[in-house]
Amino acid sequence: MLTWGTSTTGARPSNGSRAFHLELEEALAAFLGREACHVHSAGYLSVMTSVTSFAQKGDLILADKNLHSCLWDGIRLSHASVERFPHNNPEGLREVLESVSAGVPKMLVVEGVYSMEGHVARLPELLTVAADYDCFTVLDDAHGFGVLGRQGGGTLDHFGVNDKVDLVCGSLSKSLASTGGFVAGWSETIEYLRTHSKQTIFSAAIAPSQAAAAKMALHLMQSEPEHLERLWRNTRRYIAMLKSLGLDTWETATPAVPIVLGTRELAYRFWSALMEKGVFTVMSIAPAVPPGKDLIRTAISSMHTDEQLDRIGDAMAYAVKSI
Ligand SMILES: Cc1ncc(COP(=O)(O)O)c(C=O)c1O
Repeated sequence: MLTWGTSTTGARPSNGSRAFHLELEEALAAFLGREACHVHSAGYLSVMTSVTSFAQKGDLILADKNLHSCLWDGIRLSHASVERFPHNNPEGLREVLESVSAGVPKMLVVEGVYSMEGHVARLPELLTVAADYDCFTVLDDAHGFGVLGRQGGGTLDHFGVNDKVDLVCGSLSKSLASTGGFVAGWSETIEYLRTHSKQTIFSAAIAPSQAAAAKMALHLMQSEPEHLERLWRNTRRYIAMLKSLGLDTWETATPAVPIVLGTRELAYRFWSALMEKGVFTVMSIAPAVPPGKDLIRTAISSMHTDEQLDRIGDAMAYAVKSI
């Protein structure tokens, strides 16, 4: 704080670029096995610009139908045409692509882990289809980063397909416990972003404290493996506990664990019962989720203690009886 102050007060190309930005970008690029990286002051900006800066009118974007809002905003802003394919369904993607003429430039946009459902993207199959049709590929790994792969390297590392995706982007506000976002890829692609992306050129740079927090968290991810181990131990225990109570976790495979109740009334009653027992969750009802999938959102972290998980288990049992 004494060295850098609280804000750069400006955008990167004008008066915002500082050594701490470059250090964070180099550390992220090295960790992700990418040539270069750029950080923004919000994940929303990073993700939106990863799409909108690399597609334009006349292009076709293939989008998983369950994408996050920032990806839809990026798609809309690009003026490209868009075709949605069924969620996490490589066969559905291929079917859509079969009817597209070969000359149209194409972009595939998917997430690594879908936070509402906890689903891990079927990346190897999706990327095979993308390669068959020569699609530029953008992956938002906001929820896979820090969770999947070696040392939390993300969904690409988990599947060993890092070289098959052009751009990987995400948030610093989840596993890295800061705020901000990143885009990582080939040097030329990141240079293009730095010189052409409006979200990059006309928005103030990430603050020094945010960058420092993210850099330290990234260091801890790599030097203290016990946090990732504990995250998965907690997650396995939590999901097993929910299943033993007969709860529907929408086939989650990650620490983002939905509990599907099916109607808004049941979701509300379940949420209130947990609140009564001091357990905070977030309700998500249609149209935010498909009809019949009204749910409460929960997430497990490495910081949950065994005692807290016991208490959560008791509260869940109470909520099941209350509805
Ligand atoms: C999948 C996904 N992408 C991007 C973002 C945006 O990240 P941020 O909150 O850092 O702006 C989020 C945030 O919730 C997200 O869930």
